[in-house]
Amino acid sequence: MSWKEYYAARTVTAAEAVGRIRSGDRVVVQHACGEPSYLLDAMTANAGAYENVEIVHMVAMGQAGYAQPGMEAHFRHNALFVGGTTRGAVAEGRGDFTPCFFSDVPGFFEDVLPVDVALITVTPPDEEGRCSLGVSVDYTMAAVKHAKTVIAQVNRKMPFTCGVSAVDVTEIDCFVPYDAPVIPLAPPKIGAVEEAIGKNVASLVRDGDTLQLGIGAIPDAVLKFLAGKRDLGIHSEMFSDGVVDLARAGVITNRKKTLHPGKCVATFLMGTQKLYDFVDRNPDIYLAPVEYVNDPFVIAQNDNMVSINSCVQVDLMGQIASESIGLTQISGTGGQVDFIRGAARSRGGRAIIAMPSTVKGKTSKIVPVLDAGAAVTTCRCDVDYVVTEYGIAHLKGRTLRERARALIAIAHPGFREELKMEWERRFHTAF
Ligand code: COA
Repeated sequence: MSWKEYYAARTVTAAEAVGRIRSGDRVVVQHACGEPSYLLDAMTANAGAYENVEIVHMVAMGQAGYAQPGMEAHFRHNALFVGGTTRGAVAEGRGDFTPCFFSDVPGFFEDVLPVDVALITVTPPDEEGRCSLGVSVDYTMAAVKHAKTVIAQVNRKMPFTCGVSAVDVTEIDCFVPYDAPVIPLAPPKIGAVEEAIGKNVASLVRDGDTLQLGIGAIPDAVLKFLAGKRDLGIHSEMFSDGVVDLARAGVITNRKKTLHPGKCVATFLMGTQKLYDFVDRNPDIYLAPVEYVNDPFVIAQNDNMVSINSCVQVDLMGQIASESIGLTQISGTGGQVDFIRGAARSRGGRAIIAMPSTVKGKTSKIVPVLDAGAAVTTCRCDVDYVVTEYGIAHLKGRTLRERARALIAIAHPGFREELKMEWERRFHTAF
């Protein structure tokens, strides 16, 4: 049977495809802007046919109907990263959270989290019968390899990305053609605080560096302030529209990269149509599975690797809480630690945590101790640079006393006095 006959024989409606999900199954869903929303809606509409179906994914960008009140008997959401539309479900006990490094997720599907069904989005097949996983390759490639049943929404609007991002049609069991715009992520709003942080971070970036940009407003805002640099490279878990502007301006050339020279490397992409048009069949963009892109030993093969991530709170020892506010899980570890450790091993590498000094001007993000129950994402032995709008604290190799002093110097002035009092109490000396 030719691949065309195989494809035609397995092309079905969404209702037929989700009819293959059985009660008690574990369903792994492609995430972020690659989410197969049409299949998820069809699955949710068929809720009455299921009991106790486990839905596993990372960043949720769609409606997440399966995680809404009233769906408890049918679905149980297991978040490997809590996204905006699933925060409520996890906070209210209708969903669970599994702590993990992003780079470890594909390995889970081999043993601790065996996959019954994978719900994915692909491009239509090319002349050789290969479909691209588009803007989210990350753990999706492993889900395809390990699932008993693979159901794909075939979306002609999904960009065909290059790299290690395509699967053979014969690896997919059901094809559901349905075109929809790829989910957009609007560029962040950049105010005076973000501008000051961006400038401080940019002062740590040198010509020829290779960058990782984390998730959230700050890492993306930083790009705006790199326009004066030369020959930057990208090896990042994800990137957004900001990279397109710098590539077109000739700032990002990837020329000095020591691994994959000439190519922007990532495992998923989130942005607007501008980004999706830019990456479509672009041989300079290399998407690959997360167990490769986020492996600290792979990351470290880039000399001058600079990771830029954000956080929720930092305590005076340099412990970084990035994913929970006290006991409330708001996101996940994602690739933060993968990249901080990779940058630490890179020749000339630097790891930066950049954040506003306050939460909307009300409370300090630099605190004596983390909120009770907060998860430590980056531990105090891994931390390197912390940056706010007030400056840069370099913590690596420094004593507890020195780190606390450096962090107080970049705290919001309105909170420095109380932090100094804590310093004096803790270290038994005048500040
Ligand atoms: N106390 C109370 N609330 C806080 C807070 C704190 N210390 N810090 C943040 N918040 C609130 C914000 O006010 C915001 O609330 P809102 O949604 O009601 O406006 C919410 O938490 C999210 O914070 P914000 O700073 O707007 O988030 P962001 O989109 O810029 O993302 C992180 C910041 C830290 C959540 C994000 O970078 C993250 O998840 N990091 C961990 C994973 C990671 O780094 N991956 C990197 C590789 S992709």
